[in-house]
Amino acid sequence: MPTTLPSVPHGGPSDRSGDLSNGDPRQRLIVALDVSTAAAARKIVAAVGDSALTYKVGMQLYTAEGPQVVRDLVASGRRVFLDLKYHDIPTTVGAAVTEAASLGVSMLTVHAAGGGKMLRAAVDAANARPELVVLAVTVLTSMDGNDLDKIGVRGTVEDTVVRLATIALTNGCQGVVASAREASTLRAELGDKFVIVTPGVRPAGSAVGDQVRVVTPAEAVASGASYIVVGRPITEAADPAAEARAILGQISQ
Ligand code: C5P
Repeated sequence: MPTTLPSVPHGGPSDRSGDLSNGDPRQRLIVALDVSTAAAARKIVAAVGDSALTYKVGMQLYTAEGPQVVRDLVASGRRVFLDLKYHDIPTTVGAAVTEAASLGVSMLTVHAAGGGKMLRAAVDAANARPELVVLAVTVLTSMDGNDLDKIGVRGTVEDTVVRLATIALTNGCQGVVASAREASTLRAELGDKFVIVTPGVRPAGSAVGDQVRVVTPAEAVASGASYIVVGRPITEAADPAAEARAILGQISQ
């Protein structure tokens, strides 16, 4: 990837506190590289140019291309959010986080449902790279109260999100992944000293795709999101840089 990917100035360290209020709006935007080849990822990153600094590498691209795609993004000056949602015994998760830290990623995800010991193992391993933000996934937005009931989880989705987020923050995670709706509840219940990353964001007028509930970039930030994740509205745009800039404009207002 470095051979054809123009470098950008390094985006700087991630803000572990979640307070990005005075920064460059690009600090808040994460572009999801949900594609199956490094070549396709490279094309998107080149097309976005310097309109975004952070890219999400998820299980599709990582499974297809492995860690080199991450190394190449980092080498070109981009920040990487490695969204592999680790959930295993503490030793195994800690070891995986050690490897992710050595790849130079800036953010990664673990499942809060793995419990306090697993989360603590992830956080301890991440401390090898001080700017690395460990984010906990609480309840997948594809699950409703009925699904939780079937797997034996008590309480409403909202209660469960707050309970799992509390476990995550108590065990040292710097933040959570949450929908805009959950973000406002989490800010009200748990304060503003942690990062919230919000997906399911759509600029006004764009295709909703398979997202059920969507919010605009401005709504996500107003709900308490520190970072927004945007995939297809940017990656499938005729002009990805222009789309990213439009989103940045909406965040800045
Ligand atoms: O829909 P879009 O292409 O913007 O998706 C961007 C990313 O957000 C995807 O990688 C997906 O994994 C993530 N995500 C989501 N909705 C959720 C949770 C995660 O779109 N509820």
